[in-house]
Amino acid sequence: MVGYGFIGKVHCHAHRSLPLFYDPLPAKTKLVGVCTATPESGEKAKSQADFEFETRDYHALLSRDDIHLIHVCTPNAHHKQVVLDALKAGKHIYCDKPLALNVAEAEEILLASQSAPNTVRQMTFNYRFVPALLRARELVEAGFLGDLFQFRAAYLHAGYISPERPHTWRLDHAQSGGGAISDLGAHVIDLVRFLLASGVNVGRAGEFEKVSAQLETVIQERKEAKTGLMRTVDVDDIALVNCRLEGGARGILEASRLSTGVQDELRIELHGTRGAIRFNLMEADWLDIYDATLPEAALGGGRGFTRIESVMRYPKPYSLGATKNTVGWLNFHIASMFDFVSNVAAKLEGRPLNPQSPTFEDGLRTQKVISACQASSLDESLWKIVR
Ligand SMILES: NC(=O)c1ccc[n+]([C@@H]2O[C@H](COP(=O)([O-])OP(=O)(O)OC[C@H]3O[C@@H](n4cnc5c(N)ncnc54)[C@H](O)[C@@H]3O)[C@@H](O)[C@H]2O)c1
Repeated sequence: MVGYGFIGKVHCHAHRSLPLFYDPLPAKTKLVGVCTATPESGEKAKSQADFEFETRDYHALLSRDDIHLIHVCTPNAHHKQVVLDALKAGKHIYCDKPLALNVAEAEEILLASQSAPNTVRQMTFNYRFVPALLRARELVEAGFLGDLFQFRAAYLHAGYISPERPHTWRLDHAQSGGGAISDLGAHVIDLVRFLLASGVNVGRAGEFEKVSAQLETVIQERKEAKTGLMRTVDVDDIALVNCRLEGGARGILEASRLSTGVQDELRIELHGTRGAIRFNLMEADWLDIYDATLPEAALGGGRGFTRIESVMRYPKPYSLGATKNTVGWLNFHIASMFDFVSNVAAKLEGRPLNPQSPTFEDGLRTQKVISACQASSLDESLWKIVR
């Protein structure tokens, strides 16, 4: 485990949960070593998650023969070098999003990946493992939507509304590569691609073709916790993006850290010629679908949005306890981890990997959309003054 902050713990939790929920296990995993930035955080990680050792230097993990999987859970600026070195060491890699700081770094990783064909290289795009969204993908694949007219994708948080929230690596472009657009936007960009990959028309219809974005830094300075000094925020708090997909559909993508009143509001809404699908992470047990082929009738007849009870009804061998249970955020991570470990086992046994797993290619595609948004946002000429 390289990095053991907020998400490193979640990855550890997922590993610990695998033998509890999956039977048979594709492979037995154990937590061996953890690399963190300070001795204090290293000791804490070691004792909390029961690692065998902790270190400041991730090469100490890469040189071990008894370590096969490397988790990349550091601030984004470190992703590239850790991934490149892990590839060189022939390790399987589970990299949290975004893949890297920018497209150039992501492309370097993809190029280097070609020299490590015996490794599994997977992104943590954990929302691909929400049962309701898996059901949405299944419906799209079966043609439920018809051709897509438009979509709406939003990931809204309110965590930064207080100007007193201190400055951290997430607010420093050199450390993060972007603000809301790369932190939250990465998830919904991937989801749009994931949901539409197989369904609308053919081929790359669900890929992003072009974007026009406004990325805005609303709170432009924050105090650094350690020094008490004011530091400039040079990433976006709010991203508003107009999108065009390769299949012709148009959509709006929103990512925000300043959406007062929300908690963890990830919304996807798809409108097609034959039907509509909508999902909100705050009601993650349900997928709402609308069949526009049903006849219109007085008093509404039987037509209208229907709620599908997706809850925890994962298809086998994905399973997380009783199928009637409601979903929880951590569970998507456990499922995502199961997928990664299954792919490693498949790789070792010469079996095909899950084609739906989020690959580094997916990481690169997401990175390209983020970059295009950032480039577009710099171009003031697209704004028209309202007179
Ligand atoms: N998939 C998700 O739902 C999700 C959620 C949160 C964060 N993330 C991603 O996870 C990554 C980490 O985010 P976080 O919220 O856990 O950050 P964090 O600040 O909470 O933790 C970062 C960790 O990295 C360690 N670290 C810093 N520099 C290091 C270095 N040079 N070598 C080794 N370790 C180092 C720190 O000690 C700390 O343990 C980011 O890429 C972020 O985008 C993903």
